[in-house]
Amino acid sequence: MSTENKNSEKNITRRDFLGISWAAMTALLGAEAAGLMFRYIQPVNTGGFGGIVRAGKVDDFQRGSITLNQAGRFYVVRMEDGSFLAIWQKCTHLGCSVPFVEAEDQFHCPCHGSLYNRNGDVMGGPAPRPLDFFPVEIKDGEVFVDTGNPKQRTKYDPSQTTKA
Ligand code: FES
Repeated sequence: MSTENKNSEKNITRRDFLGISWAAMTALLGAEAAGLMFRYIQPVNTGGFGGIVRAGKVDDFQRGSITLNQAGRFYVVRMEDGSFLAIWQKCTHLGCSVPFVEAEDQFHCPCHGSLYNRNGDVMGGPAPRPLDFFPVEIKDGEVFVDTGNPKQRTKYDPSQTTKA
């Protein structure tokens, strides 16, 4: 084999290597772009706090009930008229998690004693405003709560609820 032939084989090998590398990089970029596109076209996050949370089926909530959604950090209040109110669990005083105390029929903050009625209005203690609420949407018989969009209020108003 002549020296010229050896060089020619080396050049072809190098060219092949560059071609394969280029193809591999292009395939990787394509896969990454496809992955990003796939994530982009996925339905809205229906996971935990900070996104849209699927709270359950409309019929899972009895009228007059208050149900804690642990993952979403909110209470679903099913009003007597059947509409829904989603209340953030976070105390508006200094941010403690506020439990609903069945025996008292109110939210009672364990930290400094703020009291809120079933709609989240302040009934006592140092809380400066009612518990914040989240927008609720009903789709295909299911309740979705937008925990990325808390709303402050000065008092409860039926306009804060969503009809089923
Ligand atoms: S944090 Fe709830 S009363 Fe202070």
